[in-house]
Amino acid sequence: MFDNQKNEVWYQLENHKIEIDKTSIKQLFKEDQYRFKKYSISFMDTIFDFSKNIINEQTLDLLIKLAESSDLKSKIDAMFTGEKINFTEKRAVLHTALRNMSDNPVFVDGHNVMPDVKNELEKAMSFAESVRNGIHKGFSGKSITDVVNIGIGGSHLGPDMVCTALSPYSGSVSVHFVSNVDPTDISEKLRNLIPETTLFLIASKTFTTQETMSNAGKAKEWFLNNSGAGSEAIAYHFAALSTNIYACKSFGIAEQNIFGFWDWVGGRYSVWSVIGLSVAISIGADNFKKFLNGAYQMDLHFRNSDFAKNIPVLMALIGVWYANFWGASTQAVIPYDQYLLKFSEFLQQLDMESNGKRINYSGDEVSYTTGPVIWGTIGTNSQHSFFQLLHQGTQMIPADFIAGINSRSGDQNQHSILLSNFFAQTEALMRGKNHDEVKSELEAAGLSENDINLLLPHKIFPGNKPTNTILYKELTPETLGMLIAIYEHKVFVQGVIWELNSYDQWGVELGKQLAKGILNDFANQGEINSHDASTNALINYYKDNMKV
Ligand code: F6P
Repeated sequence: MFDNQKNEVWYQLENHKIEIDKTSIKQLFKEDQYRFKKYSISFMDTIFDFSKNIINEQTLDLLIKLAESSDLKSKIDAMFTGEKINFTEKRAVLHTALRNMSDNPVFVDGHNVMPDVKNELEKAMSFAESVRNGIHKGFSGKSITDVVNIGIGGSHLGPDMVCTALSPYSGSVSVHFVSNVDPTDISEKLRNLIPETTLFLIASKTFTTQETMSNAGKAKEWFLNNSGAGSEAIAYHFAALSTNIYACKSFGIAEQNIFGFWDWVGGRYSVWSVIGLSVAISIGADNFKKFLNGAYQMDLHFRNSDFAKNIPVLMALIGVWYANFWGASTQAVIPYDQYLLKFSEFLQQLDMESNGKRINYSGDEVSYTTGPVIWGTIGTNSQHSFFQLLHQGTQMIPADFIAGINSRSGDQNQHSILLSNFFAQTEALMRGKNHDEVKSELEAAGLSENDINLLLPHKIFPGNKPTNTILYKELTPETLGMLIAIYEHKVFVQGVIWELNSYDQWGVELGKQLAKGILNDFANQGEINSHDASTNALINYYKDNMKV
């Protein structure tokens, strides 16, 4: 798309940045009483407020032109209609088909995938209900009390985040997550579980991931050693969620407990598939479908709305604006909602595994910044850890603030304290506090001239820090589904602007390859000298000091 990778609109945006840098968000609000109205969108009980950004009409016009010059509209259609946009793996990208609530067909290679999608969903939902309602029994005839999802990356972060977020909808079965290959993870999780009432879900798209297969083997060993049952009992206590049916069977999972999906579902986009089985067991099939529906509503909005009123498109373009024209290398996500404790961690994989890349569609290295570092955690905790840097540090860090109007705990009074902080922080970040304001405060407090001079520069807040606000009425399954879909589509749009394949992840391969060799080095009796001096010395030190 870009001549020399940057087109005319790009240069216009560079010049426009120099102009708009002469004003401030605060000033832009003063100049336009309708600014909030113009730069906010209501959708499904949720307000998306983009007005506290360093943007004006010209910025948005240019950013939308940038999207048009990237052929965004036809790229969106290509994704939804099953074109193989994941071109390095020759795969379609169709997580949207998993939540397609319409009767419209979706084709991959001329085959309508929707009947398979609906069948697998129904099979998984009826299994989830039977576990949730105590109908599915363990080998000894007792109902399941604990479910352990063993998976990593997309086979862990999505389900774990959603189970946490929707825990007010959970039933009596407890859901646990084991992901790390650190043996401490599984041994700590299994410590208080009872084999005869525990069900393991082995969640792995490939069913070859070292961490997951290693933990699955451990779980099987633990079950057989502690249940007193024979291997025929595995059929009641192990299920698999995977695209690799052959490997599931080889592991010993009973055929009726294998739930499948397809290579056109990326790992980090798979919570909508049977990878979400732990979620369905926790919140029930009806709520799981509402979760899918929330995402579907956002899919319709994304596909059909003009770019100027399109939430994921605007979020993506505003992110591009800061990353490429203001030098922002990170993006904070700060939910003021305890239930969204794991949301930022989930987004890290979604965004950074998708757009943490430097090679464009033509196979050339890009000449511009791509995916930012995504980070953050819940407010108000974060106010007491990293907000100092947001307010007075030297870097520009755009931040998304997310909160619910109504408390799920029922304590609306204390919730109001939370929300007052939520509103105050985006206001403070934008407004700042200038020299004169600080000076008059210090004078009013009766400080000496010397003390005023000493303190004054430290107490100035430059302000003009951009934020988006997402404010929903309540964190329901629909709201959460919609929220995740916004970020999925945002990542997609940014990938289009940066000309990246957002759906492969070759960058995770090298470390995996080297780890295999190093595991062999451990088994080798002699001193290791096949690596660089540092790696050799560390491996040898490990071997000399490990307890065997
Ligand atoms: O880390 C690479 C990765 O392939 C992720 O993309 C994926 O979500 C994770 O590993 C787990 O893969 P699987 O579901 O195949 O075990």
